[in-house]
Order: sequence, then C-alpha cells, then structure tokens
Amino acid sequence: MPLLPLRVLLDYAREKQFGIAAFNVNNMEQIQAILEAANEIMAPVIIQASRGARKYTNDVFLRHLMLAAAELYPNIPMVLHQDHGNSPEVCISAIRQGFTSVMMDGSLEDDGKTPSSYEYNVAVTRYIVDVAHTVGVSVEGELGTIGSLEHMAAGEQEEGHGAVGKLTLTQLLTDPDQAVDFVKRTGVDALAVAIGTSHGAYKFSKQPTSDVLVIDRILEIHKRIPDCHLVMHGSSSVPQDLLMTINRHGGALRQAWGVPITEIQRAIRAGVRKINVDTDNRLAMTAAIRTYFQEHPEEYDPRSYLQEARNAIRRLCRERMEQFGQTGHAVGIPRITCEEMAKRYANGVYGENAKPQKIRG
Ligand code: G3H
Ligand code: 13P
Ligand code: ZN
Repeated sequence: MPLLPLRVLLDYAREKQFGIAAFNVNNMEQIQAILEAANEIMAPVIIQASRGARKYTNDVFLRHLMLAAAELYPNIPMVLHQDHGNSPEVCISAIRQGFTSVMMDGSLEDDGKTPSSYEYNVAVTRYIVDVAHTVGVSVEGELGTIGSLEHMAAGEQEEGHGAVGKLTLTQLLTDPDQAVDFVKRTGVDALAVAIGTSHGAYKFSKQPTSDVLVIDRILEIHKRIPDCHLVMHGSSSVPQDLLMTINRHGGALRQAWGVPITEIQRAIRAGVRKINVDTDNRLAMTAAIRTYFQEHPEEYDPRSYLQEARNAIRRLCRERMEQFGQTGHAVGIPRITCEEMAKRYANGVYGENAKPQKIRG
C-alpha cells in the first residue's frame, strides 16, 4: 500500500473516536519496531521525522526505509510526516522526498527559536497549504508555543527547535478564538495546540495538575473547530520504571514526570487525534541498551543490544497504540492516496479554505 496522507487516518479516527500516536524515528530499528507493533494489533501508524532526524538518517535512507516498511506491511496504513518544519523549504523538500504530511510550524520564526507574529504564522502556513494540498499532502500547523506552564519556557531544545527564553501565558495557551481565525485563513488539516506540554523528559517537576496541563482547553478549541484535527505535542509519559532502570544501570537522569496516560485518554475524548511521542521511545531504547551492557559486559555484537532495544520500542509502541484506541483500525482506513486527495482538495470536498489558491499572474 502506498503511504497515505495524514488527513485520511485522522478523519477515520474522528469517525471512530480514537487517537493515533505519531512516533518520531531516527533509524531502522525504530521503524521496524513500530511496524512490528502495528502489525501485531492491526493498527494504523504515523511515523514522523524531525529536521534533526532527516539530517541524521539522510533523506535517501529514510525514504527507502519507509518504502521497505510499506512493502513488508501492505496491510498497515502508514503516514510519513515532517515534524516541526521550520520553513517552507523544509516542508517542500519533505514533499519531494515522498512525505505524505508536513507540519509547518510557523509559531516560531525560521530560526526555530524566536516566537513569530500571528500574521507571519498565518502567511507561512497558508503558503504551505497551497503547495501541499496541490499534491494531496496534509498539513499540520501550530498555534501557540509548545512549552511548560510550570516553567513558562519551552522544553528541551535538541537539534535546535524550541523557543528560547521566557514565554507568556498567552503564548503558552492556545486561544480558541484565534484558532477559529487561524484554521479559516490557513485551511490546515490539523492543528497543534499549546496546553502546557513540552518536549523532552523534564516536562513537570511533579504529577501534573490541571493548572499546568490544561486538557479542558482542548475541549474548548475542539468545540469551535470540530473539523480540524487537534494535535498534542510533548505527549510522552516518561515512565518511572524506565527512568529507574536507566539510573540503576549507570544513567544519571533527573527525576521527572510526563503526561499521564489517563490525561491523554481524556484529551482524546476531548478531540485530540494525533499524539506525538518521541521521548518515551528514547527512554525505552536507552534502558534496554544500558541494562544489556551491564548484564553482558563481554558482548560486542551490536545486533545483540540493538535487538533488545528494538523489542523494548515494540512493546512500548504497542502499549501506546492500545492505550490510544488504535487496535484493529488498520482494516477500516480507506486507501485514499495523495493523488486522490489532491483532486478532493481541488474540488472543495474539504471546504473552500482547504482548496489550494491559484496563483494569479
Ligand atoms: O520535536 C521534538 C522531537 O522530539 C524531535 O526531536 O529534534 O531531537 O529529533 P529532535
Ligand atoms: P515528547 O518529547 O514528549 O516525546 O514529544 C515529542 C514531540 O512532540 C515531537 O514533535
Ligand atoms: Zn513537537
């Protein structure tokens, strides 16, 4: 089966009322593990690559790994999504590489650090919607700046993406009225909202309460823009047993809390459809490798410990997919390709604002 546009999976998830994990990948073992997990429970999958991941893997390797995944698992509907595209160039190069969905994160300027103006965000996102929808590729935008309400700042800035310095409450909590205007003017298929989650392992200094993890805001936004799929970034749960395993085997991670699974499930009921998870897989992989090294100091074949890491990711991904309600839904997803989606956008099936605007000379 060819890779499918994000919108196809999220439309189906809305119809059946479940959420879909979007897992970040950087290497072959992660892609293999996600597909093995999806195949075990017949779940649709979203695989996403950040700019850093594309640089690390090299686009050609990544493209061929995804083609291999599609060939080996023809019954699993899958999406390849650009995570946090910081500029039109990054999104367009992703489309050229065969990505079926792109995030144009115009909440920050193209340095990936400076919070942008609202008008910049609208203009740059609209531009990418026009380009992407012309070829049937889905677009995720971001309104508000993903970051911690506890620290009033963005989370970890690996590979340089994330606001720098202090952020205001207005930036850290997406405004529902502005979301209505943003979706109307840009025509995005999905919208990442700021509700207090942040990237990385150190999201909260204790179990989060409703003042720092504002799930109610999702419901408010969803009611106003029910046709636009909401996305929750920074959704790793930071399992305590993984932190302990890492630290017991030579690691030195600080105590930290993530987003409890029950809160993610509440967010799904409130209207979230795409849930971004990266850190949990990093922790699972690190815990498996650290444990293996300590228990087998004589071992030097990378396959031995990478296999442990792959199994750990498979287990974690399967658990998340089950928790988000994806089980069994691979069969029901309509096989609508990017080519077909391009016709649908052009014919106004998704509304006038999602139609690519024609350039007039
Ligand atoms: O956006 C955050 C994701 O976890 C990707 O992280 O930029 O280090 O690949 P990365
Ligand atoms: P985590 O760091 O919580 O896994 O979030 C990942 C993410 O939002 C990628 O865009
Ligand atoms: Zn993110």
